[in-house]
Amino acid sequence: MVTAGRTHAPGDPVNPPIVPTSIYLPGGAHMYSREHNPTWGALEEAIGAMETATCTAFASGIAAISAILDLVPHGGIVVAPTHPYSGTGARLKELEASGAIVVRRVGMEDATAISEAAQGASLVWLESPTNPLLEICDIAAACDAAHGAGALVAVDNTFATVFGQHALDLGADICMQSATKYIGGHSDLLLGVATTRSQSLAEQLHTRRTMMGATPGVLEAWLALRGVRTMALRVRRCNESAFELAKRLETHPQVERVLYPLLPSHPQHALAMRHMPMGGAVVSFIVRGDATAAQAACDRVTLITQATSLGGVETTMERRARHALEHRDTPESLIRLSVGIEDVEDLWKDLDQALAG
Ligand SMILES: Cc1ncc(COP(=O)(O)O)c(C=O)c1O
Repeated sequence: MVTAGRTHAPGDPVNPPIVPTSIYLPGGAHMYSREHNPTWGALEEAIGAMETATCTAFASGIAAISAILDLVPHGGIVVAPTHPYSGTGARLKELEASGAIVVRRVGMEDATAISEAAQGASLVWLESPTNPLLEICDIAAACDAAHGAGALVAVDNTFATVFGQHALDLGADICMQSATKYIGGHSDLLLGVATTRSQSLAEQLHTRRTMMGATPGVLEAWLALRGVRTMALRVRRCNESAFELAKRLETHPQVERVLYPLLPSHPQHALAMRHMPMGGAVVSFIVRGDATAAQAACDRVTLITQATSLGGVETTMERRARHALEHRDTPESLIRLSVGIEDVEDLWKDLDQALAG
């Protein structure tokens, strides 16, 4: 990943340049940048190499999600998580309300329900771990069941990343990530990626991007490629610190419950150990008391940034239920902590003082 997406011709710049053009001179492979741009091309090559697949980059994670959902024929059935990322949930509701798709919602932890719902479906959309409840899906079992029923499987792998969980190796047809998070890694861009090992799906995704005009900006693509270079190191460090903080939070008197896949208290702990032994860098925890107590803890952090999103080098946290779109099953006093690369002792000191009040 450190060198993928580079050319190796003598005299070339080591890093692919940013190519801000919408048009190309005649005689080459490309005419217009809604179809191709060499700056995204380099990013797609690098991400494709990470997953041994073809990658299509989009303007954002939600653009990638919308393109994948657009593959479903009109009126087709989509199996989706009961508790998906709020943006995915909102998009599913819109498509459902317009009659474009029929949605069957199932808990990601319920393999039997996924298998039953897949009968007659066009697409099974999996998210594992879910945002922010960190429910884990048995992706391999869900893929077997979905394929047996003739449905495609797409996995939102944003939280685990390819370093934590190989969705395509587990059987998914499409793996999607919001590259805004760990791929970019610096909270300075919006971008999405979808990878697949099917030539036909890769072509369809490319066409969807062109038709929807959901093309990435060249600066964003270039920054994301720079993020790829350090991604393995960042993800490992963030995951290790997240596990350490999850263990400490579980013993904190102001914390009622911690949700983190590597804690034995997690309901799908054994499955998580098989699927994603790194655990991820997001820890969700429920503060004792009400929403006001949780919000006060968020307001008191000093090293940690109170902000939405995740996957940056800086640690961020927020009370998720403050968002109008958040699922009503998300507890009012749940805080989602996205662990960055700071010193773990400094992070603990800040969390401890914020919780103590
Ligand atoms: C799990 C998950 N998937 C998809 C998205 C959407 O990505 P983007 O914000 O890049 O559109 C997000 C954003 O928070 C997310 O958390």
